[in-house]
Amino acid sequence: MVYGTLFIMRIDIITIFPDFFDQFLEESILARALKKKLISIRVWDLRLFTEDKHRTVDDRPYSGGPGMLMKVDVLVRALREVVGSTKTIGVKGTRVLFMDAGGEQFTQKTAVQFSKLDRLVLLCGRYEGVDARVMDYVDGRVSIGPYVLNGGEVAAMAVVEASMRLLPGVLGHEDSAKDESHSEEGVLEYPQYTRPEEFEGKKVPEILLSGDHAKIAAWRKQQKRKRT
Ligand code: 6GU
Repeated sequence: MVYGTLFIMRIDIITIFPDFFDQFLEESILARALKKKLISIRVWDLRLFTEDKHRTVDDRPYSGGPGMLMKVDVLVRALREVVGSTKTIGVKGTRVLFMDAGGEQFTQKTAVQFSKLDRLVLLCGRYEGVDARVMDYVDGRVSIGPYVLNGGEVAAMAVVEASMRLLPGVLGHEDSAKDESHSEEGVLEYPQYTRPEEFEGKKVPEILLSGDHAKIAAWRKQQKRKRT
């Protein structure tokens, strides 16, 4: 149990679709972690950091090409404001990341690293791309997999969810995070069953009904290996 600990981690998400995150933040485990003040999450509307009447966040690329690019001035203004410093990279305990299909692959190992940070700032990319100069103002780029999404929002949710559930006290049962798939690199968890005892001719393995805990533990270990 964790008592009297306030905000193990702070997460800031910068996006042009802040509403996307409303339901996400209401998901039960996340909502409880927020209520317990284990984590603090702020979702920022990128348009807050524009200075023109039309609240422009994108513009056409120099020398042409399809689509629009997110503007470096708006993004950097947002980062400085959110990080609370003109320095947006190399801040101790803080990682400022651009969510981008071309970024470094996010894995369970990355989630463990992120869960040890004081602060995570996620900048969600949108449209066809971003002014390349933005990369000088972030610590890195993160992708959640080898496919292209319309924007970084869904990816940011995956990163937040995978990282925050590793923080002490976030999951109700302290063993839950440790026992699950991928916690030991590449080792999947054992199969589990609930009622009914038989479904469409498929029976729950006899051993799980035996009450023999030593045998069950050995069976689970063996099943885990089988699944790898
Ligand atoms: Cl972080 N962004 C986009 N646009 N696509 C992705 C991604 C991120 N990760 C995988 N695909």
